[in-house]
Amino acid sequence: GGQPQQLQGAVALKEIEIYAASGRYQVGANLHSFYRVVPKGEASSRPTGASADLGRNLIGQHIASDVILNAMTGFKNNDNPTKPLVLSFHGSSGTGKSLASQLIVKNIFKKGMDSRFVHFFDSVINFPHASQVETYKSQLQHWIRGNVTNCAHSMFIFDQMDKMHPAIIDGIKPFMDYQYKLDGVSYQKAIFIFLGNAGGEIIRESTLVSWKAGKKREELKLEDVKTALSSVVFDFCVWESSLFDMSNVVDFFIPFLPLERQHIVQCIMVEMVAMGLQPDHNKVCEMADKIVVYIPDDERRISVSGCKRVASRLRHFMQ
Ligand SMILES: Nc1ncnc2c1ncn2[C@@H]1O[C@H](COP(=O)(O)OP(=O)(O)O)[C@@H](O)[C@H]1O
Ligand SMILES: *[C@@H]1O[C@H](CO)[C@@H](O)[C@H](O)[C@H]1NC(C)=O
Ligand SMILES: [Mg+2]
Repeated sequence: GGQPQQLQGAVALKEIEIYAASGRYQVGANLHSFYRVVPKGEASSRPTGASADLGRNLIGQHIASDVILNAMTGFKNNDNPTKPLVLSFHGSSGTGKSLASQLIVKNIFKKGMDSRFVHFFDSVINFPHASQVETYKSQLQHWIRGNVTNCAHSMFIFDQMDKMHPAIIDGIKPFMDYQYKLDGVSYQKAIFIFLGNAGGEIIRESTLVSWKAGKKREELKLEDVKTALSSVVFDFCVWESSLFDMSNVVDFFIPFLPLERQHIVQCIMVEMVAMGLQPDHNKVCEMADKIVVYIPDDERRISVSGCKRVASRLRHFMQ
């Protein structure tokens, strides 16, 4: 059901300890707020809104919400992080990875994705030609260095990370590692977020397996998809060449579970309210079946494309 996601800090923190990519990430205990040092006029007006935003807006992703919230809280409470925060979101299309990254950004910068301190790259759009990887790489290094020099709290989001050329990844990896300073610039307060479909299939499988074992979705723990994610990490290592080991720099690998019909219903509700319509439950359920394809064929439980295109299909359907 439609229960709002509760963010259970203590439980999640334990899970993070289990799953932190390496044991090196320290959750600081002092009370200085991250938000206070964000450049003037850019700090979010709702510094404590992270939990509310994630819990309210990110449907059906209790694991991701918990881990993200704890990662962010630990990072912002830590005056002296030893490395930049690096999050890697994994899951199939339309499960809310971009949405989650936007919610994080909104909680740090009032202007959200429009902030000049937020830098978004899509591997396929921004780095399309393999023949130009060296150019992309040096340009990106230049931009990261330049922007972090101007604002230590700069954020960098890389979409379609699973399609990024290994040479480019290799080029940006040093910024995310433990370095007091790299060429006179320190990167410890920056945040890097990777988004990608890598692992989506495996996460979907493990969700189905646990469902078939009679487990409730809400009972699914990070631990349960850990094996799935380990193989994603493995994929990164062997991917094209063993140039690069992502797991050395990523602090949290975060799974986005496949969305079920009940979540599609919620996405439709949200969209209808946004359209100024009064959502009628029966109508919405009917639409959840009409506008979305479910798999596997026999069970028809999981939406192939999550909540992606729900809005446009709904609009089309309403006309
Ligand atoms: N878990 C979710 N909760 C709420 N809305 C979602 C969720 N997943 C997807 N959506 C909606 O579906 C659309 C596509 O989601 P997006 O975050 O771009 O997916 P992804 O980046 O994982 O492919 C967006 O409009 C988003 O608001
Ligand atoms: C900051 O990054 C942007 C790309 O997001 C780039 O256009 C700009 O030149 C960079 N700034 C510096 C000072 O390097
Ligand atoms: Mg996306």
